[in-house]
Formats: sequence, structure tokens, C-alpha cells
Amino acid sequence: MKRLVASIGFVILAGSAALAVVLGPSPTSAPSAVATAITEAALAGPFGLAEMSKESIECIDCHKKESRGLYQMWGASKHYGANVGCYECHVAERDDSDALEHYDETISIIVSPKDCARCHEKEAEEFLGSHHSKAARILGSLDNVLGEVVEGNKAFVTDGFPDGNSAAAVNGCWQCHGSQVKVLPGGQLDPATWPNTGIGRLNPDGTEGSCSACHSRHAFTVEQARHPDNCGKCHLGPDHPQKEIYEESKHGIAFFSNVDRMNLDSPKWVVGEDYWLAPTCATCHVSETKNQPITHDIGMRISWNNRPPLSVRPEVSDAKMNLPGANVPWQIRRQNMYDVCLNCHNETWIDNFYLQYDALVTLYNDKFGGPAKDLYGLAKPLRDVPVNFANHIDWYYWELWHHEGRRARHGASMMGPDYTHWHGTYHIAENFYMKFVPELRDLIEKGSHSSDADKVAAAEALQAKLDEVLNSENHRWYLGKMDPEEQARRKKAAEDFKARYGH
Ligand code: HEC
Ligand code: HEC
Ligand code: HEC
Ligand code: HEC
Ligand code: HEC
Ligand code: HEC
Ligand code: HEC
Ligand code: HEC
Repeated sequence: MKRLVASIGFVILAGSAALAVVLGPSPTSAPSAVATAITEAALAGPFGLAEMSKESIECIDCHKKESRGLYQMWGASKHYGANVGCYECHVAERDDSDALEHYDETISIIVSPKDCARCHEKEAEEFLGSHHSKAARILGSLDNVLGEVVEGNKAFVTDGFPDGNSAAAVNGCWQCHGSQVKVLPGGQLDPATWPNTGIGRLNPDGTEGSCSACHSRHAFTVEQARHPDNCGKCHLGPDHPQKEIYEESKHGIAFFSNVDRMNLDSPKWVVGEDYWLAPTCATCHVSETKNQPITHDIGMRISWNNRPPLSVRPEVSDAKMNLPGANVPWQIRRQNMYDVCLNCHNETWIDNFYLQYDALVTLYNDKFGGPAKDLYGLAKPLRDVPVNFANHIDWYYWELWHHEGRRARHGASMMGPDYTHWHGTYHIAENFYMKFVPELRDLIEKGSHSSDADKVAAAEALQAKLDEVLNSENHRWYLGKMDPEEQARRKKAAEDFKARYGH
């Protein structure tokens, strides 16, 4: 990008900015003088151009005829106002892997985080250090077998993929998580991998992620980025229904009834100062408070990662992905979120909310998540076919943690009682007692009558674990073995309740 920099005189912010932790001590080190200077420069904002470049004027002259809507969107944008034209974003060097010769100029179709970083260094750095930018690393995960094999086949053949891809993965997983964009000879992009604005897209220039996952082109408005629907492209559905949870929560209700009073297009958008009627996803996870700047690392305000079979602390999952957040303990992140809530609630309210939420996470982990994980591990050698998703038990276990278990935890984390209970713990219990455990019993039955000594031994081990789990305090009711004292206590409470409220 040196040529561009020289020709229009950008200020490039070198070096690495301090971690996006604003409350509590910095776990790495005190910000150095360099980092402070960077922060100040970043806070001063990106730099516009004195006038539209001659290259951009050429693009515009033609594209305002060729693609009128695109031109209008750009023309109404802040970028237009700052003379940031087509060329400033789409420019490429001849030797860039995705360079495209286009009417006397070298451009690239993809505008990667590295391209935006020329003017938005701070945002890009935070984003690149976040889980969002790593979202395409799932391409090797267990769910991926679902998209590629179980649900799909390899019949979608393109120039770049003579062996084909699964249309289910291309149109599904990849559109949220990101594809590995493949460049064809001449600079065109392979149709299996483009169009794609998945949030962790693997770009030809080696960067991960796409800013256009949240910042729709060519308007790039913050107004749209702050709206909950923006996150709702991906954060919805059976395994992570954050959008639905938000909609049923008091926060969502307050937002939708006050959307015109939310001041969403205000350049400065500080909760409690520029709006106060409701928080959006961005308010809690991204936007400014009077104590915290905007963060593009959406992990900096959450204290649990509820995606794995058992909830873990975010620094644990960050370490696995080699993210800078590995050095940021959950207590600091919780304090960051706490600072958001404090603008509208008092301390006791927030403390008690976290006690309720933590209790639900612990309930799930201890009663279902942990035991189910152990039992499934022991059941694996007893399956008819030793392949994931070819047996009932695989699906029961998968849905228990990946769908139902996540819904319950996510519901509690964002004040959605229906997702916590009816879509959550209710389904977990139904699955565990009515599908998972009966299936384990079938596998034990078959295994114990097998001629294979290994299977007989595996059946014994599974039986022993199942007995231990079902006879534990959490599950003995299911065997009709509830502690008589507790039974009596429950009976008396029910009678007292009847006496007090009638019926
Ligand atoms: C003389 C007309 C003309 C000029 C000048 C021009 N373009 Fe285009 N551009 C087109 C047309 C026509 C297409 C559509 C090609 C198609 O549909 O595949 C296009 C397509 C594109 C694409 C998409 C390419 C793809 O294959 O998906 C990008 C990005 C683009 N132009 C950017 C630019 C930029 C940036 C400039 C200025 C440096 C520019 N264009 C200058 C006419 C022009
Ligand atoms: C602020 C940066 C920015 C500016 C300014 C900009 N673009 Fe883009 N453009 C993008 C991004 C981002 C994408 C989507 C590619 C991606 O996801 O990486 C894109 C995609 C495109 C595409 C292909 C996708 C489509 O929807 O067909 C065309 C064509 C295009 N731009 C043309 C233009 C033209 C013409 C201009 C000037 C009028 C322009 N761009 C100005 C960032 C920019
Ligand atoms: C050549 C420099 C430059 C590049 C490259 C650039 N921007 Fe910008 N961007 C600016 C400037 C300057 C502003 C501030 C305009 C203002 O505040 O009036 C801005 C503002 C923004 C805003 C705030 C808009 C609002 O409504 O307040 C967003 C979001 C944004 N850019 C996203 C992007 C993304 C995403 C990319 C890459 C696809 C990108 N920009 C590439 C210079 C750039
Ligand atoms: C509608 C968009 C969408 C689709 C389609 C989608 N995902 Fe996801 N996926 C997400 C979101 C959002 C999360 C994060 C959820 C959260 O934070 O609670 C996620 C999380 C994951 C995770 C866990 C990552 C971690 O850090 O623990 C894996 C693995 C995964 N998805 C794989 C897949 C695969 C494979 C497919 C296709 C078979 C797929 N997803 C389809 C949006 C999607
Ligand atoms: C997960 C969604 C998401 C992604 C991905 C994302 N942003 Fe943002 N961005 C936001 C939100 C939300 C705001 C509005 C924050 C506010 O003003 O309250 C924002 C604001 C901005 C702003 C203007 C506000 C400011 O002064 O910081 C810029 C510039 C920006 N983003 C650039 C980028 C760039 C560059 C990338 C890619 C490296 C990117 N964003 C990726 C959600 C996102
Ligand atoms: C294009 C899809 C997409 C959009 C849009 C999107 N996300 Fe995500 N988000 C994901 C995926 C996928 C993950 C899981 C990434 C992983 O860990 O592999 C994720 C993870 C997260 C996490 C967990 C981060 C962590 O550190 O564990 C939070 C919080 C989050 N997103 C919030 C948001 C918010 C708020 C918005 C809107 C401003 C948003 N997301 C927009 C796809 C998306
Ligand atoms: C009132 C503030 C608030 C709002 C509004 C809000 N969230 Fe959250 N969000 C939270 C809290 C609190 C947690 C749990 C944090 C923790 O674990 O400590 C959370 C957790 C998350 C997670 C992490 C899930 C995981 O896998 O562990 C994601 C993703 C997320 N929110 C996305 C969203 C999206 C998308 C929206 C809007 C549709 C949204 N949030 C609205 C406060 C909020
Ligand atoms: C912009 C203001 C605002 C912010 C920020 C905010 N809330 Fe709220 N919250 C509200 C409003 C308004 C209500 C609805 C109050 C009512 O029903 O009387 C509410 C209700 C609640 C409720 C009650 C839910 C119910 O169903 O009764 C809880 C719990 C809660 N908030 C927790 C939090 C937590 C935790 C945070 C920070 C992660 C937070 N809030 C951030 C405005 C906010």
C-alpha cells in the first residue's frame, strides 16, 4: 500500500495499540508512551482527503451509470463527505494475490480489514484480536461434518474446486462464519467463495474477517451497525438465539417501543447521555459509555463462553485461539459490562442478576452438561456404527448441549425467561430423561449381550456411571428415590400454598 500512502498522504499508525481493557489494571503492562500516542491519534479519528482523487473520479463517472444504487449509497455516506472514493478502498498493488486489472487501474474486489485499517487502525486491531475474526476456523469442526457430509455432498463444482463443495456449507455455515475466498486466474473470485461477508472470512491477502459483516456497503452507517437486526443476521436460531432472546427481554421491548427516540444516527452515542430508553446489542457489547471507549473486541465484556458442552471462562477459549484476550481475566470483562448496566440500574440489581445467571450456568454444567459428556464418552464404543451422527445417541447428545444447553444459558445471560425455560431447561430435561438415558440403556443391553469382550466391558463401565449419575442428588427423583424428607417438605409446601391461595 506504500504507493497509495505516498500519493495521498495518509498517516499510518504503526505498532500495536494497548489491549481494549478500560477498567481495572491492565494485565499486560502499563500503556507505553507509544501506545498512548496511538490512542490519541486513533481518538482524533481517521483522516479524510482534501479532495476526491482523480482515480476515484474515473470510477465514479462510469459507475454512476453502471451501478446507480451503489453510487447513491456511497454518495450519501460519510466517506463521500470525507472524499474517500472508490479507489481509496478498492486499490491494489499489481502483485497482490487478488489484483484485478480494471479500466487502467489495479483494484481488488475484496476490501479486507487490512484495507480499512489504513484509516481505521484501532477498530481493525481490536476486531482482528477478537473471536469474530476467527470465526472461519470452524471449517474443521465437528459441526462442519454436518454441513459438508451429513447434510451435504460435493456436487457444487466450480472452477476453483473441481472436486466440488457442499452447497449446504456454501449457502449456510460460510455465509455467517466466512469462506476461504479463492482467487481465480485474472483476479476474479470463485463463485463458491464469493459473494461472502461471513465474519471470519479468510481473505486472499492473508487477513481474517470482514468489516462488511456488520458495516454494510456502501453506506457504512453507524446507525445500522447499532441496530439489533444487524447482529441478528447470525445471532439467532436454535443454537444461539440471541436476537429472539433480546426481543423477548425487557430491553428489546423498550428498544422496539422507543426506536425513534434512540438517537441511533447521532455521531456521539454514549449511553445515558445521547440515549437512555433502552440498550441494544451494541450498547452492551460494543459502544461507548462515559468510562469506556467503543470496542471492536466483542469478548471484552463477557465473563462466560457458553458455546462449548460445558461453559468455560473466556480467557480459556481465547488462549486456545491465541488471542490477546488470553491475558484478560473474566473478572475484568464482567466489570466492563457492569459499567454499562450501571447507567440504568443500581448495584444490587446488577449483582443479583449475575448471581441468578451464574446459578443457571452452574445448574446446567453440574446437572446435565458434565454427566452427559461423561456418559456419551463411555457410550461411544457401544455404538453400532463408529461414526458421529450415524447413531441416535450422537444426535441426542449433540442437541442436548449444542442446542438446548446453549439456549438455556444464553437465555439466562440476557434476561429471556422463555428461552431459559421452555426452549431451554425444559428441552434439556425432556431429552436427557426421555431420549438420552433410554438410548444409553439400550446400548448397555445390546453391549452386555455382545460376543465382543470389549463391548461387554464397555457396557459394564457405562452401567456403573449411569447408576452413579441417576442415584445422585440431582437425578434420583427419576428413579422414584427422592429423599423422603425432601418429599415431605415439598408436599407440605404445596399444601401451604393451597391453603394460602385457594385451589
Ligand atoms: C468505464 C467504466 C468503468 C470504470 C472506469 C470503472 N469501472 Fe468498475 N466496473 C464496471 C463495470 C461495467 C463492472 C461490472 C462487471 C460485471 O458485471 O461483472 C464493474 C465492476 C467493478 C467491480 C466488481 C468486479 C467483479 O468482478 O465483481 C468493482 C469492485 C469495481 N468495478 C470497482 C471499480 C473501481 C474501484 C474503479 C476505479 C478505479 C472502477 N471500477 C472503474 C465499469 C467501470
Ligand atoms: C469505504 C470503502 C469503500 C468505498 C469508498 C467503496 N467501496 Fe466498493 N466495496 C467495499 C466493500 C467492503 C465491498 C465488499 C467487499 C468485501 O466484503 O470485502 C465492496 C464491494 C464493491 C463491489 C462488488 C460488490 C457488489 O455489491 O457488486 C463493487 C462493484 C464496488 N464495491 C464498487 C465500488 C464503487 C464503484 C465505489 C465508488 C463509488 C466503491 N465501491 C466505493 C468498500 C468500499
Ligand atoms: C481512505 C481512508 C478510509 C478508508 C480506506 C476507509 N475509511 Fe471509513 N472513514 C474514513 C473517514 C475519513 C471517516 C469519517 C467521516 C466523518 O466522520 O465525517 C470514516 C468513517 C467511517 C465509519 C463511520 C460512519 C458513520 O456513520 O459515522 C465507518 C463505520 C467506516 N468508516 C467504516 C469503514 C470500513 C468498514 C472500511 C473498509 C471497508 C473503511 N471505513 C475504509 C476514512 C476511511
Ligand atoms: C446464521 C448464522 C450461522 C450459521 C448458518 C452457522 N453458524 Fe456457527 N455460529 C454462529 C454464531 C453467531 C456463533 C456464535 C454463537 C454464540 O456466541 O453464542 C456460532 C458458533 C459456532 C461454533 C462454535 C465456535 C466457538 O467459538 O465455540 C462452531 C464450531 C460453529 N458455529 C460451526 C458452524 C458450522 C460448521 C455451521 C454449518 C454446518 C454453522 N456453524 C452454521 C452463526 C452461524
Ligand atoms: C460485530 C459487528 C462489527 C464489525 C464486524 C465491525 N464493526 Fe465497526 N462498528 C460496529 C458498531 C456496532 C459500531 C457503532 C459503535 C457506536 O458508535 O456506538 C461500529 C463503529 C465503527 C466505526 C465508527 C465509530 C468509531 O469512531 O470507532 C468505524 C470507523 C468502524 N466501526 C470500523 C470498523 C472496521 C474497520 C471494521 C473491520 C476491521 C469493523 N468496524 C468491524 C460493529 C462492527
Ligand atoms: C456475520 C455473522 C455475525 C454477525 C453479523 C455478528 N456476529 Fe457475533 N459472532 C459470530 C460468530 C460466528 C461468533 C463465534 C466466533 C467463534 O468463536 O468462532 C460470534 C461471537 C460473538 C460473541 C462472543 C465473543 C467471544 O469472545 O466469545 C459476541 C459477544 C458477539 N458475537 C456479539 C455480536 C454483536 C453484538 C454483533 C452485532 C453488533 C455481532 N456479534 C454480529 C457471527 C456474527
Ligand atoms: C443489557 C445488555 C445486553 C444486551 C442488550 C445484549 N446483550 Fe448479549 N450479553 C449480555 C450479557 C450480560 C451476557 C453474558 C455475559 C457474561 O457471560 O458475563 C451476554 C452474552 C452474549 C453473548 C455470548 C454468548 C456465549 O456464547 O457465551 C453473545 C454472542 C451475545 N451476548 C450477543 C448479543 C446480541 C446479538 C444481542 C442483541 C440481539 C445482545 N447480545 C444484546 C448483555 C447484553
Ligand atoms: C439504557 C438503559 C439500560 C441498560 C444499559 C441496561 N438496562 Fe436493564 N433494563 C432497562 C429497562 C428500561 C428495563 C425495564 C424495566 C422495567 O420493566 O420496569 C430493564 C430491565 C432489566 C431487568 C429486568 C428484566 C425483567 O424481565 O424484569 C434486568 C434483570 C436487567 N435490566 C439487567 C440489566 C443488566 C445486567 C444490564 C447490563 C448488562 C442492563 N440491564 C443494562 C434499561 C437498561
